[in-house]
Amino acid sequence: MQRTTLYGPFSELLPMHNLAMHGPLSDEDLLIIRDGGIVVEGERVLETGEYSELAKKYESAVQVFNTEENMVAVPSFIDCHTHICWAGSRANDYALRVAGKSYLEIAASGGGIMDTVRATREASEDELVNAILVHVNELLKQGIGIVEVKSGYGLNKDAELKMLRAIKSANQQTPVDLIPTFLGAHIKPKDFEGSNSEYLDMLFEEVIPVIQKEELCTRADIFVEEGAFGLDEAASYSKKLMSLGFDMTMHADQFHTGGAKLANELGCVSADHLEFSDDETVEKFRDSSTVAVALPGASLGLGMQYTPCRKLLDQNACVAIATDWNPGSAPMGDLLTQASLLGASEKLSISETLAGITFRAARALRIDAGKIEKGTTARFSVFKTSDYRNIFYYQGRLRPTHTILRNECIQH
Ligand code: NIG
Ligand code: FE
Repeated sequence: MQRTTLYGPFSELLPMHNLAMHGPLSDEDLLIIRDGGIVVEGERVLETGEYSELAKKYESAVQVFNTEENMVAVPSFIDCHTHICWAGSRANDYALRVAGKSYLEIAASGGGIMDTVRATREASEDELVNAILVHVNELLKQGIGIVEVKSGYGLNKDAELKMLRAIKSANQQTPVDLIPTFLGAHIKPKDFEGSNSEYLDMLFEEVIPVIQKEELCTRADIFVEEGAFGLDEAASYSKKLMSLGFDMTMHADQFHTGGAKLANELGCVSADHLEFSDDETVEKFRDSSTVAVALPGASLGLGMQYTPCRKLLDQNACVAIATDWNPGSAPMGDLLTQASLLGASEKLSISETLAGITFRAARALRIDAGKIEKGTTARFSVFKTSDYRNIFYYQGRLRPTHTILRNECIQH
């Protein structure tokens, strides 16, 4: 017999199951269940509804919480773009940047990503596993239950594989689901003797077969930017990987336009960053299956403009929001604070922001999650408050007290 558990009562329960995948959302669209409860059987949601009704129907269920305190339950959050597998520190880069040097200037002089590559190559696989788990625990405290994790600080065969193996092994040691992405195409490392295309060929011929053999991941990413990879290089690399069945995503339009248009043309699952996307690019996202992922942590870390989320939503795009947590451009790693600040600047409704870190973020990862719905894996977070809007109104200061992942209730 599978264990049946009744969680609640929640002053407000937000199942988020009825909301559109694309375009603007208004808070009136949220079908809030007042005094709600969630029944979980085994690892899955069996039913949501009014707590008192559920308590009668599932008399023998284990009751969790059962208090008169105000609580709000929302789907646990999804961070669909991170680089949390790294060693070393880039405090020096940060100091240079705030004193006026640009991200691209620091990278061109041998700092930036290459600095983290040096430290990550020196770290053992176990050290990387520990680093990932430290970061994942920080994200879990924010109510995040699914985290995408990129490689991309190894930039040679052995070190890229070491990163992906570390992500796989960390995934087995946390209740949070980690979704790996191969970012060997972050930049061509300084010690690779050959052109960008030769580097991408090496990844394709030497690293991808091992990734497939060891089933390390089914997603890949490429940084399309001056000083990283050009449009033609990205197009041919992406097409080759897509023909093998990889989901492709791109770091696009972070400093210059071009990448995001290409991502839409190729049918990438997402195009991430988009701080420099112009109106013509924004139009490409109209009804597009390519999710537009905003990374406010990178805007804040670099002191740059935000992704034009309002315009993207008004073009009926699917907009997700992620931390981009990494030691360089986005050192904060705080999704609730970042989503709140982005929402305040970009004029996003609370439900648009919430959708961006739940079911719309799930779409960027091509998974069915981010809702509290019958049959879905139980993943939800509980906040001690009477009003769901406080999650963003407090701009990151309100943290969940519990996150339920499958059949585990984690107290923060
Ligand atoms: O998403 N822009 C490229 N990659 C990362 C930053 C990586 C780094 O600076 O270490 C990003 O911003
Ligand atoms: Fe990134």
